[in-house]
Amino acid sequence: MATTDEFRTAIPLEELREQGRAQVSVDGTPLALFYHEDEVRAVDNRCPHMGFPLSEGTVDDGVLTCHWHHARFELACGDTFDPWADDVQTYPVEIRDGDVCVNPNPERDLPPDEHWANRLETGLEENLGLVLAKATIGLHDAGVDHREATATILDFGTRYREDGWGPGLTILGCLANVIDDLEPEDRKRALYTGARRVASDCAGEPPNFDQPSFATREVEFDRLKRWFCDCVEVRDADGAERCLRTAVAADRSERELAELVFAAATDHPYLSTGHVLDFANKAFESLEHAGPEHTDDSLAALVEPLVTADRSDERSSWRRPVDLVGLLEDVYGGDVTETSGLEALVAEDASAEWEPPTDLRETLLADDPEAIIDALADAVREGATSEALASEVAGAAAMRVAQFGTTNEFSDWNTVHHTFTYANAVHGATRRTDAVELYRGVFDAAMSVYLDRFLNTPPAPIPEPGANDAEREPEEVLEALLGTFDVEGEVDEAGRLVGEFFDCGGDPEELKRALGHALLREDAGFHTIQNLEAAFRQFDLTAEGTDGAIDLESRRRVPLIATARYMAAHFPTRRETEQTFTIAARLNRGEAIHEE
Ligand code: FES
Repeated sequence: MATTDEFRTAIPLEELREQGRAQVSVDGTPLALFYHEDEVRAVDNRCPHMGFPLSEGTVDDGVLTCHWHHARFELACGDTFDPWADDVQTYPVEIRDGDVCVNPNPERDLPPDEHWANRLETGLEENLGLVLAKATIGLHDAGVDHREATATILDFGTRYREDGWGPGLTILGCLANVIDDLEPEDRKRALYTGARRVASDCAGEPPNFDQPSFATREVEFDRLKRWFCDCVEVRDADGAERCLRTAVAADRSERELAELVFAAATDHPYLSTGHVLDFANKAFESLEHAGPEHTDDSLAALVEPLVTADRSDERSSWRRPVDLVGLLEDVYGGDVTETSGLEALVAEDASAEWEPPTDLRETLLADDPEAIIDALADAVREGATSEALASEVAGAAAMRVAQFGTTNEFSDWNTVHHTFTYANAVHGATRRTDAVELYRGVFDAAMSVYLDRFLNTPPAPIPEPGANDAEREPEEVLEALLGTFDVEGEVDEAGRLVGEFFDCGGDPEELKRALGHALLREDAGFHTIQNLEAAFRQFDLTAEGTDGAIDLESRRRVPLIATARYMAAHFPTRRETEQTFTIAARLNRGEAIHEE
């Protein structure tokens, strides 16, 4: 309870009675006072929605109505009729010696972390951008680890979307992956963006109802995996979900669960232009942030995308003029769903010792699918792990984005982007399990890189190390880079500036922070967010230095050049998201939004 000493004199009671309302400041807190139905009420003068002065609102029948967007508040307690507006803070009032006295620092009903956690739930349920912005900012400022909010959003997204894992949850996972690369303010933006996109994906959608696991825990792993893949093959969602939940309930290891999911995700090449395997990879990565207790529902959310996927072996581009599926079948063993041929190919001593041939990148980017498949098959035979080979293909896929010609149709940015994020996801999956099926993901990604070859005709120039005179300071280069995102058409300049930043000795972590900020101040689309995250991951995974045979210093900058170019092609946007975030941040800080 507040003590009597905390009350401050605000206004003579008679004056308030005559005016009916007053705007006062008590210890720096702007208050709206009302004399209504023989009672004095005090509320924060800033409308919780967007800060309009509530002293200019209408009071009638115990309801205060804001005049800007007409949010209504129960005057005595401040609770709103309109959840998009949030509740308004009320303040205790006492009448002393004919004066209205107000306690400007009342005890809050809930500590800030609990208050904002509740608001996060409300924002997700009602799909309210401003409420989500305030909640994610409030949670961060209350010192709540972003993993807690990520887990809440993940739970919501997997439960309330019958269609399962989608772009919203993928965005949440992407931003959780890069959050440590960002400035503190941008970490709030990242969490807000993830929450907003998950809420938007779930809005108006039927919820997901679980299929239970089988009662037995005794099914051997290979059989369960076979059942799961068979169910996915015939698009049987219920059966697949029961198998998957049984594997989780039987405490199968993360490696085994990954094998189960990624085997089904590579039974046909390049499912849904690569999105399905990317979703699966993001689900596993999200569990690293949210915790293993979310495994059951998160993996079950992958079933719907798996069983409804478009299969690229049914697309004409994979059949004509070159029958790529036929070439892959020759390697896999008669059918793209088989692995017997691959199993025979995989060297017994597959190890990290394998070194890629110096011409492998060139082969992967060239015009001969048979040569590509032969080169990959030779590598498998010679002991290349799926992870090492996936890294090579992801590097080639990044080159396709970095060298995308701006004379192509704009929509083809997505073509090279899909291949890049697919190859990155395959790479991520191979780091989780060494299941032989994932070699199929590597070959499939390589075929997609091949199919994209015309989008590098002619190839956009990639700034090689030392191509710039390196006279400018790195900060100047970053400023110029951010400037390219303020205008349209600066695609090649954005890529060149990334090269210049490296040439003048800039810290890659600063570059990532700048790119992250550039992403989060825009209304960045699903693909742009994916692209940046994949670029950061590929940059991190590419070893530093040079080995004499392959110029790794030249290679490691490619993903960041690629994503800077992709961003420049898609920016600027209207930045509506940033406007909402800024309003929420100012409201949470208690600043005035509405200029009187
Ligand atoms: S309803 Fe009050 S500012 Fe919008």
